Amino acid sequence: TDYDLIIVNGVVVSDTEIGEYDIAVRDEKIAKVVSRGGLNDAKAAKMIDAEGGYVMPGGVDAHVHLQEPPLFGKGSTADNYESGSRSAVCGGTTTMVTFAPQKKSEDTLLDTLYATHEKAKDNCYIDYSFHLLVGNPSAKALSEFKTLRKEGVSSLKIYMTYQALQLHDGEILDVLLEARKQQITTMVHAENGQVIDWMTAQLEKRKLFAPKYHGTSHPSMAETEATYRAICLSEFMDSPILIVHVSTPAAAAHIKSAQDRGIPIYAETCPQYLFLTKADLDQPGFEGAKCVCSPPPRESEADCDVIWDGLANGTFTILSSDHCPFRFDDNVIGKKSSINDEYPLGHFKYIPNGIAGIETRLALTLSANRLDLKRFVEVTCSNPAKLYGLYPLKGALVEGQSDADINIWYPPGKMQEFELKNEMLHHDVDYTPFEGRKLKQWPRYTILRGQVVWDKENGGLLGKKGYGKFIKREASSLAKPRRVGEWDIHPDGSFGIY
Ligand code: URP
Ligand code: ZN
Ligand code: ZN
Ligand code: ZN
Repeated sequence: TDYDLIIVNGVVVSDTEIGEYDIAVRDEKIAKVVSRGGLNDAKAAKMIDAEGGYVMPGGVDAHVHLQEPPLFGKGSTADNYESGSRSAVCGGTTTMVTFAPQKKSEDTLLDTLYATHEKAKDNCYIDYSFHLLVGNPSAKALSEFKTLRKEGVSSLKIYMTYQALQLHDGEILDVLLEARKQQITTMVHAENGQVIDWMTAQLEKRKLFAPKYHGTSHPSMAETEATYRAICLSEFMDSPILIVHVSTPAAAAHIKSAQDRGIPIYAETCPQYLFLTKADLDQPGFEGAKCVCSPPPRESEADCDVIWDGLANGTFTILSSDHCPFRFDDNVIGKKSSINDEYPLGHFKYIPNGIAGIETRLALTLSANRLDLKRFVEVTCSNPAKLYGLYPLKGALVEGQSDADINIWYPPGKMQEFELKNEMLHHDVDYTPFEGRKLKQWPRYTILRGQVVWDKENGGLLGKKGYGKFIKREASSLAKPRRVGEWDIHPDGSFGIY
């Protein structure tokens, strides 16, 4: 045989092109992409007829929390590397970048990295890589950035909020300077922690504890201010950043304006900011806790519309899930751990922050039918790969270069609209915040390095735990400083690039 797998009759969508192409796979790689019919004489061990369905690169989800302790309280996120990556593959995501979380009490980043490797090793259904989450930018930690690059880690996340992790502006500059030298991209959680703490105290004085006050305690202003401050610090240091999980129109406007000036500012949004609003937090009883995440779902659908616009017009570079799942009906490590004798109806500030979404990201967004298809591929596959140094190995279908990670969607009209139900999902969580949403699409086949790992009509999950492997990443091919040279204080006392 010539090939391991041939996919015919598909409509192939990349970030730049849509066309009728057939694809041949050999030795885990994309071997050929040719006009429809061009492989008719080729022999392959396996053939898939896409029947006119869209054929896209496998999804790349660059914002995933697995087996992490929550930012306050006890326990751990509901999904471990096994269940999280299983959920991913059943929704068409073939590569994930998860966080290796360093605590404030720890000095080193490398121990964190190696400990996270242990959690993931032999447990993943999909390929994976890590961002280092820097809780303590100690001298030691900063000196380790160089080794991180050698270990295939080319991005970090820092927080401007959460007492357990919040960095002050001088610490952020320390990180940005060292990240710049090592060609590392810094991801910033931009919310003003002191504003949130102040609002929380105001609400507590008034004895307002219900889940919906999580939203009140995280006002849009706190995100908008921190976003602009992060942009200023990044521009000053000429060190590229990505603002994670952007939710407010005003923050998006600051990002757009920096981008228009040519500053390397990148931004991410997530399905929760496209589909959820304050009304989802404002539910009877404790129900609203299901949608507690930070930043919170915003005011109204008009806000969601602005986020959709930013996704369409390029303000947002990537769409990630921010999969950070907590079980609802679990009073030890889940959402209900915030309920106790003192707060029998719960207290918003103790509700673990985060929601599940690694499996639903692609189908929800594609089913909404609000993005150009090439743009859909760009924000869910190609751009995350480019931004984080995985391109064109991942996020693309380039002959001889890309891994054969492929999603084949149902042909138009072949799938009946259906209501999403948590029981359809493969995570280890007892709910989805998107329960009852109407979907028109779901991946029919998902292929990872040439293996069919998901076949919705024939066995569902076919992939095996442990097939997923760690991918070392290069420097970003998108995010670069504008000037070359070292940023430093010069012998004459002036500072800047030389
Ligand atoms: O609420 C969220 N987003 N939890 C996950 C942690 C984070 O800040 O991304
Ligand atoms: Zn965050
Ligand atoms: Zn997150
Ligand atoms: Zn000089």
